[in-house]
Amino acid sequence: MNSSTSYLGLNLSTPVVVGASPFTDNAESARELQDAGAGAVVMRSLFEEQIYLNEVHGEGRPGSRTEIEAEQDAYFPSLSEYQQSPDQYLRQIAYLKRSLVIPVIASLNGCHPGGWLDYARRIEAAGADAIELNLYHISTDPDWSALDIEAEMLETVRQLKMSIRIPLAVKLSPFHTSLAHFSRELVRRGADGIVIFNRFYQPEIKVGEPGPESQLHLSDSGELLLRARWISILASRVRCSLAVTGGVHSSGDVIKAILAGADTVQVVSVLLKQGPHFLAIIIQGLQKWMKECGYENLGQFRGALNFDRCPDAAAFERGHYQRLLQSWRV
Ligand SMILES: Cc1cc2nc3c(=O)[nH]c(=O)nc-3n(C[C@H](O)[C@H](O)[C@H](O)COP(=O)(O)O)c2cc1C
Repeated sequence: MNSSTSYLGLNLSTPVVVGASPFTDNAESARELQDAGAGAVVMRSLFEEQIYLNEVHGEGRPGSRTEIEAEQDAYFPSLSEYQQSPDQYLRQIAYLKRSLVIPVIASLNGCHPGGWLDYARRIEAAGADAIELNLYHISTDPDWSALDIEAEMLETVRQLKMSIRIPLAVKLSPFHTSLAHFSRELVRRGADGIVIFNRFYQPEIKVGEPGPESQLHLSDSGELLLRARWISILASRVRCSLAVTGGVHSSGDVIKAILAGADTVQVVSVLLKQGPHFLAIIIQGLQKWMKECGYENLGQFRGALNFDRCPDAAAFERGHYQRLLQSWRV
């Protein structure tokens, strides 16, 4: 039985990828995940703000930030709080490439066009097999329309893609007015894959305490359903690789994501909770299920539950919503 998959034009031995996280900070844990069957690893992100800060105060060349931008630096971690400096990050790519045989995907995190994107070229030169660009952004300015924000994001993707030859995946949030349209526009600007969705870490409001408390809570499988729905909508509408990130905790979750149309799934929380060895258990469960169902490869069931045969997905979704509301009586 063959559980290999193609993702961003790369051949992966399994569809289970380790998502951006601390797991690639040292080669030993990355190797452990490779041995457990990971198809690829995504490195933690290098951030737009971190790169600019590094240029002004760090090892890089003098920066070109405005005063307002410099003031904003106060909100961000200091250079020493980031786990890796940009230079260390490039060295870590080269080190991981020497240590692993599976693809190493580097991650950039930001959503504005500009000089920070030069790092994409350096990441490619350091040996990364692909780049994942995380467009994480929360829009709070009422003068800034959805169109303005998405135009900047699309320009960011265009500039980044122009500067590299390796494939590019774009990691998105669910909060786009027309996700299918935006995804198609990303592909037009050169995105080879779309990764859905970012998790948002909402601060907890503690009654009686002075400020909100920020803590990173790990996910559970309940978060997968939003992703599976959108993968099933995008799978027949957007021509690129599709990956799920968020809420994949078991082989059953992997199967659901592939039935919806995903080429790969990314796992982080489950590995932080259970340990890297759990990745092998997930893959064994997938292979066992494929064997029981008589599937020889992932292509035989990928997208079986997508919206391919549904000419009006919006009407289907709204009808389904109404039926659900009508199903309750008191
Ligand atoms: C400790 C930790 C660090 C993370 N660092 C990054 C990062 O640097 N860049 C990024 O795009 N996502 C990062 N993520 C998000 C994960 O890649 C992933 O999208 C998210 O955790 C959802 O997947 P999960 O449900 O399997 O945890 C991080 C998540 C965790 C828990």
